Amino acid sequence: MKEDWRISERALQIQKSAIHEMTRLSKEIEDVAFLSWAKPTSDTPEYIKEAAITATKNGLVGGYSENAGLLELRKEIVKKLKRDNNIDADVSQLLVTIGAVEGLSAALMALVNPDDEVILPSPTYSTHIRQVILASGKPVLVPTIEEEGFILDIDAIRDAVTSKTKAIMYCSPSNPTGAVFSEKHLHQLADVALENDLMVITDEAYEYFTYDGHKHFSIASIPEMKRNVVSCFTFTKSYAMTGWRIGYLQTDETLIPQITKAHIPFAICAPVVSQYAALAALQGSQDCIVKFREHYLFARDVMCKRLDTLGSVFEYQKPRGSYLMFPKILLKDGKDSTMFCKKLLKEAKVSTTPGIAFGPTGESHLRLSFCVPEEMIHKAFDRMEMYFMG
Ligand SMILES: Cc1ncc(COP(=O)(O)O)c(C=O)c1O
Repeated sequence: MKEDWRISERALQIQKSAIHEMTRLSKEIEDVAFLSWAKPTSDTPEYIKEAAITATKNGLVGGYSENAGLLELRKEIVKKLKRDNNIDADVSQLLVTIGAVEGLSAALMALVNPDDEVILPSPTYSTHIRQVILASGKPVLVPTIEEEGFILDIDAIRDAVTSKTKAIMYCSPSNPTGAVFSEKHLHQLADVALENDLMVITDEAYEYFTYDGHKHFSIASIPEMKRNVVSCFTFTKSYAMTGWRIGYLQTDETLIPQITKAHIPFAICAPVVSQYAALAALQGSQDCIVKFREHYLFARDVMCKRLDTLGSVFEYQKPRGSYLMFPKILLKDGKDSTMFCKKLLKEAKVSTTPGIAFGPTGESHLRLSFCVPEEMIHKAFDRMEMYFMG
């Protein structure tokens, strides 16, 4: 079929999302057990909702804020970055964004020239791949080491650097693998970046969700990296604020005006009502984060236990962070993860996400989310046991 002349090459390069396709198919089937949601199922805490209502009633949210975000909010973010990420920031180094995703896109738009290469340890969050393409860059997927928990392969990353490489972009804790990149590896990654004049763009959406003593480490806390990192954060996961669309990025102050050039044409500013909600989130009790982490840890253990009884079907790495895991399908028909997931949905009524959605290295895997109530995990695994074990 002839390409539609109206559509840009940039858009044509972007493949249809397997995640959205699975969501659409899941809606056609009744009583599905969902392990495909990657968003918090809890509602936003009351104190955050109340603050948004009060700001609205007080007439504070009807206009734009500064492009960079409310000063009051940026001051609170400075404190949080020092306390939780060991990053010494200043309000001039912050841009409040429409979730982490808009921050990542704006950063890529400001940093990447056409055909610049961006290295992505893979499997990775598929949105990152699309963001690089939209910025006219070239994604270079470098496999992680699955057998050791999808950890960074520093040598492979070093080998992948060319004269066209502009940046390395990663998320840790990881969607989809549940990996947490260690402080040691991130220091080594920083060395690669510094030796080759590369930018590092981080997505730290799951920063608070790590388990078994694995710690989240922000590469921007390495003082030598000051000019080489853009760190993107969000309220989406930490405070169950998916729909509020609010996040922020931190980088060297000389880059903020450049990234703001990309932020304004897409956004002007982040939603002001959400900025007030985010301010309340940071100023109020942080108990919800503790509660969410406890639940995810519990749910991870339930899921791993249930997976252990399906040892002939799946092999898995225990997630060290996030609320996602990425088992390998051992069965022959798992080689095509899309077909496998569609069949599992149709025949066992269990919704999962095909690994191929996270880059070619994700093939033969599926992504499971344990950000669901315990009953949902049991419902899905009872069905899978029946389906695979008869
Ligand atoms: C790694 C990662 N980054 C970013 C996001 C979305 O973040 P936000 O809602 O802040 O744009 C998600 C959502 O699933 C994610 O998994």
